[in-house]
Amino acid sequence: MAIREVVKLPEPILRKQAHKVTDFGKDAQKLINDMIDTLHDEPGVGLAAPQVNVSLRWIVVEYPLDDSKENAKPKIFVVANPEITQISPETVKGIEGCLSVPNLFGEVERALEITVTGLNRQGKKQKIHAKGWLARIFQHEIDHLNGVLFVDRAEKLYQPEEVEEGSSV
Ligand code: NI
Repeated sequence: MAIREVVKLPEPILRKQAHKVTDFGKDAQKLINDMIDTLHDEPGVGLAAPQVNVSLRWIVVEYPLDDSKENAKPKIFVVANPEITQISPETVKGIEGCLSVPNLFGEVERALEITVTGLNRQGKKQKIHAKGWLARIFQHEIDHLNGVLFVDRAEKLYQPEEVEEGSSV
């Protein structure tokens, strides 16, 4: 396991469509372990492979499945080739940051609830129902795989001192 460097804007890989994951062997397992290590080393709750300079459709998210419960434990979600297959018409605004866009936050409107389908780290199908902040993190990470950053969607941008508490996703 190792911590990898998180690439920052204007690194071109952040603006590219990432490639579909087809390999779930040793290299993929190492990449996932490194992404989890890297996420633990950073003040973030999600990471997409292009952020560690790998153009593949892998995302890692660490957040409680239900954050309305007190002392809810964070869960690690690893998804290859994630797709949003259901999306609620209800939206919610929230303040996002990104490890690849340092010192900037933005208010972004996202769907309140989504269903994400994709493959797990062994290549098996999985389906995740996410609500609230977890749904926001998934939408942010899936955007990364399509070269989209929160700054493209933000209605307002903020400097760190204007934001009370920010988790970078
Ligand atoms: Ni990000």
